Amino acid sequence: MKALILSGGRGTRLRPLTYTGAKQLVPVANKPILWYGIEEMVAAGITDIGIIISPETGAEVQAKTGNGEKFGAKITYIVQEEPAGLAHAVKVALPFLGDSPFLMYLGDNLIQQGDLSYFLHKFTEEPQSALILLRQVPNPSAFGVAEVDHTGRVLQLIEKPKNPPSNLALVGVYFFSPVIHHAIANIKPSARGELEITDAIQYLIDEQKPVTACQLEGWWLDTGKKDDLLEANRLILDTYLKSSIVGDVDDQSNVSGRVQIGKQSQLINCTVRGPVVIGHNCYLENCFVGPYTSIADNTTLIDTDLEHSVVLEGAKVAGIHQRIIDSVIGQRAQLTVAPRRPKALRFMIGDDCQIELT
Ligand code: TTP
Repeated sequence: MKALILSGGRGTRLRPLTYTGAKQLVPVANKPILWYGIEEMVAAGITDIGIIISPETGAEVQAKTGNGEKFGAKITYIVQEEPAGLAHAVKVALPFLGDSPFLMYLGDNLIQQGDLSYFLHKFTEEPQSALILLRQVPNPSAFGVAEVDHTGRVLQLIEKPKNPPSNLALVGVYFFSPVIHHAIANIKPSARGELEITDAIQYLIDEQKPVTACQLEGWWLDTGKKDDLLEANRLILDTYLKSSIVGDVDDQSNVSGRVQIGKQSQLINCTVRGPVVIGHNCYLENCFVGPYTSIADNTTLIDTDLEHSVVLEGAKVAGIHQRIIDSVIGQRAQLTVAPRRPKALRFMIGDDCQIELT
């Protein structure tokens, strides 16, 4: 059994972060999203992992993630020249996959820990061409939706249907036997010009090949948009964060709840209410850091109130006299108050940024 993680794509919905980096490396609770998937696979016993990368962000994914040793896996990187669809990514990965059955996992998705082993067992216990995971959603029209009979056999898949036949959305985790390559070889690009994995699975269904579905009961998050990323951060901190304070916290500071503070970080006169993770080498002075906040390494926060937010590496926030909530602050971004007059707002805002002032 092999695994293929899709870590290419354009990431347009997470701009501007994706102008300078891969969305799969954006941290959730200070760990790249991609790594959660790798860890889940290794925990389920799948260690031969291929990662699809794009020419733009692939080098960074490769440099940060490495050859897999630190996860107990062997990682092979596969460049997809153009983000021409999920099924196209499988096509490009054919030399790696060979005739092995495999798990395909979207690199910006997160599923609850422990679930992968259960579904892998379901896939291997009886021969089938594909096993797909479904999750009930309130807004099925925004997803690929499956129609399933009472035995769990998939009858039909429809991309973003106007009249959804069910509220079961396709989660970004699929198990395939090698017969999927034959299906992909026989499909054409969709109206949006991509080779769609839903079309390849539909091809299998039309050929009377057994395609079954399992419902995911635990949570599933697609972190491709800002609010989903914040929700993933909230859930991961809520579920898994363990307290560990290594950095320096002075006597004027008050730390409560589950809080992690990394080495060489310094907190002066701060109130921190967990769950909160603060990385290494951070400097925080006169700050309130509220629940569900992740602060990456090498950041500086002074005279700042922050809650339910993600701050990326090397950012600086100082002297903002209103509470910052529901925010993602990019790498090396600076949010400060100018000391000079006239009193005014001065911006240097990158393309596609979103700023909401009161
Ligand atoms: P999407 O989120 O559907 O696509 P995207 O990354 O291009 O994002 P956006 O819609 O915001 O522009 O992709 C799901 C995952 O699959 C994601 O991790 C990127 C990856 N992917 C590839 O590796 N190759 C591809 O050709 C496509 C379309 C996606």
